[in-house]
Amino acid sequence: MSLTPKARPNVEKMSAYTPGEQPRPGERVVKLNTNENPFPPSPRVVEAIRGIDPDRLRRYPSPSAEDFRQTAARVHGVSPDMIVAGNGSDEILAMAMRTYLGPDDVLAYPDPTYSLYPVLAEVGEVKVVTVPWAAGWDLPIDALLATGARAIFFANPNAPTGTLVRTSRVRELATRFSGLLLVDEAYVDFAEENGLSLVREFSNVMICRTLSKGYGLAGLRFGYAIAAPAVVSAMNKVKDSYNCDAVAVSAAAAALEDQDYARRTWEHVRAERVRLSESLRQRGWQVIPSQANFILVTCPGGDAGATYRALRAKGILVRFFDKPGLQDKLRITIGTAEENDQLLAALSAS
Ligand SMILES: Cc1ncc(COP(=O)(O)O)c(C=O)c1O
Repeated sequence: MSLTPKARPNVEKMSAYTPGEQPRPGERVVKLNTNENPFPPSPRVVEAIRGIDPDRLRRYPSPSAEDFRQTAARVHGVSPDMIVAGNGSDEILAMAMRTYLGPDDVLAYPDPTYSLYPVLAEVGEVKVVTVPWAAGWDLPIDALLATGARAIFFANPNAPTGTLVRTSRVRELATRFSGLLLVDEAYVDFAEENGLSLVREFSNVMICRTLSKGYGLAGLRFGYAIAAPAVVSAMNKVKDSYNCDAVAVSAAAAALEDQDYARRTWEHVRAERVRLSESLRQRGWQVIPSQANFILVTCPGGDAGATYRALRAKGILVRFFDKPGLQDKLRITIGTAEENDQLLAALSAS
């Protein structure tokens, strides 16, 4: 007789992260639920993948994703020893958690935010102290400092609100905090500002980026952190040896190299964000001004769950969080002009 082994007690009692719905291959839906880029990646990415020499697959890849590291260093104007790559920025977040936080250490973050943070904390038996956002979705600096946390994480722009904290405010927190300040910039390509300059000024600031949103590569799984060389060295000790595969490294480097292509997609998303926000406001929806590639909207009737289901029935996927404070809201990814029109038409008809 075989017995099912018991997971660690903290794992037994925790819930897994709930990802947004992914349709089956070939299923025709308007997919506005997981903040992907509505455009495919740069043609240079496909060229790079096609051009992979089979011998590169026979061998292990570069442990430090060296080709990508060199490209990212050039694009961002930092040294290569300030870059560490990961299998999606989710892996970077997990690596940062394992590097800087152990059982009973305190992680603080403003809430609501990305729902993966508490899951990673539970796995590591890290204590979480959440702090409400300050008025106008500003960074609650004093309250975060008062938690006595060893690390502070925050998403900028934030998810699911899309709101941006100005760099001057992030700098104020970095000046007053001596632990790890992780700024998760998954959506920053769609925003007016970014915090890159902070990693040159502060050795405790880590900027996390992803190719899933701004570069149309969510399926590839590639993210990275930019931080002081000592932070990158510490993360390198903790990460899996070959965490990024050879195909992903070449494709990610090609994507980052083609800034002109990526920028055109960002500009389209920003323009459509304005148009969709305005159209929804005219229909009586409240829309939080967003700096990301999605908007958080309050449904006029208040029953966002019903609207979510009605849209789902018409083949339009948006994100509904059945959580206190979010039950009257939907998070809608900005799609192509055509997809956004389909959403508006479906809402008018319901
Ligand atoms: C705030 C935030 N950070 C990180 C990620 C993870 O992105 P990746 O696809 O690079 O793992 C997401 C994905 O939705 C996100 O919303």
